[in-house]
Amino acid sequence: MKISIFGTGYVGLVTGACLADVGHHVLCMDVDQEKVDKLRDGIVPIYEPGLETIIQHTTEAGRLTFSTDTEEAVNHGEIQFIAVGTPPDEDGSADLQYVVSVARTIGRHMSDYKVVIDKSTVPVGTGDKVKAAVQSELDHRGVELPFDVVSNPEFLKEGAAVADFMKPDRIIIGTDSERPRALLREVYYPFNRSHDRTIFMDIRSAELTKYAANAMLATKISFMNEVSNLAERLGADVEDVRRGIGSDPRIGYHFIYPGCGYGGSCFPKDVKALARTARDCDYPAHLLNAVEQVNEAQKHVLFDKVSHYFRGELSGRTIALWGLSFKPNTDDMREAPSRTLMEQLWQAGARVQAFDPEAMEETQRLYGDEAGLQLCGTKEQALKGADALVVCTEWKEFRSPDFAQVAAALASPVVFDGRNIYAPEMVTRHGLTYYAIGRGCNQFSVAE
Ligand code: UDX
Repeated sequence: MKISIFGTGYVGLVTGACLADVGHHVLCMDVDQEKVDKLRDGIVPIYEPGLETIIQHTTEAGRLTFSTDTEEAVNHGEIQFIAVGTPPDEDGSADLQYVVSVARTIGRHMSDYKVVIDKSTVPVGTGDKVKAAVQSELDHRGVELPFDVVSNPEFLKEGAAVADFMKPDRIIIGTDSERPRALLREVYYPFNRSHDRTIFMDIRSAELTKYAANAMLATKISFMNEVSNLAERLGADVEDVRRGIGSDPRIGYHFIYPGCGYGGSCFPKDVKALARTARDCDYPAHLLNAVEQVNEAQKHVLFDKVSHYFRGELSGRTIALWGLSFKPNTDDMREAPSRTLMEQLWQAGARVQAFDPEAMEETQRLYGDEAGLQLCGTKEQALKGADALVVCTEWKEFRSPDFAQVAAALASPVVFDGRNIYAPEMVTRHGLTYYAIGRGCNQFSVAE
């Protein structure tokens, strides 16, 4: 099938590449000429396992093309995916200007039937706005052409986006008519061969499904972070509590890992946007607001622990930081807890020696001018001459370091683990004091 995709960000690019991989003819459109030039040469602007290979072979096979020409993009496909950004406004609501602008573009250039599909995460009711935008352009041109609007939200996890797209848990299709149903069945047929994962519903329900899924996952995390703070105060170990409750299949083991807060491009933005939507319809979304507040507070927990350990005297100290991305297997730093920590440390007069397996360039781009930051080539270099080690992201290569070497390199033998990746005795055995999240009385001292 012929498919056009507007926006070559994370979602657009993964969608385009994966649809081309299963045989569709996909044109990806973006306004950024430099980006399009690079993509044509097989250079992928984001780090996502498997994506570059798919883009390179589908481009070579002629099934995936890139363009900056909106008219060409509208004419290419019967199926038109909108996958442009919806950044949060100052008040937390999603900014729809790019989505509406693409809808207008489609209305301006279309000459036959189109299915206009919202893939971007958009507030409930956006389908109506997209429909109105396409229709107003058609009215302006004085032409009558058929089109349908569909909501088809994505549920891709960064770092596993290609795998998630290829083997989806579900494909949500929100539509109020039969014609796009049939077409989308065909688009997604290759992903439904073993069993049909498609769930059809109306547009508003599809839009809300996306927010509800992310808000539910964020709620699980904030809930566990709250339990971890209680565990610390009560002398309990949240890791035992986690296993204890996860064994109940109604609760499950997934997404109940306590830590230094959730980050990324989705959870913080989507929880805020849904809370904003609730306010707009005069519903007091107490739980959603609390999820957000707990997370904001949790992003400060590591700093509080470090500051407490050094009795508030951080000026002139150097902190080694392992892990900068908001989670492993990505270079994405959006809303990463590491950023809150670094900014607080700098404000307190401390220096940071940081290492991340993938996010060094991104950190340089964001904080290159910061005098208190030294980016190090390896995790060992980050330790040299530092007063303490803080782990912010659970990358595999941080999971079993040589703790004797860590102890020898640090001026104060102390490790702050923001993701509970170590067993306390594995750290303290080497003469290090260990602080984790929600584990017992908050501190494991060096074994006597
Ligand atoms: C998320 C959703 O999982 C995905 O379905 C949606 O399409 C986009 O948003 P992503 O942002 O890539 O995906 O990251 P995810 O793996 O869900 O993690 C989000 C954050 O939660 C990370 O900061 C992670 O460290 C944190 N997290 C996750 C926890 O703190 N504890 C957990 O148990 C799980």
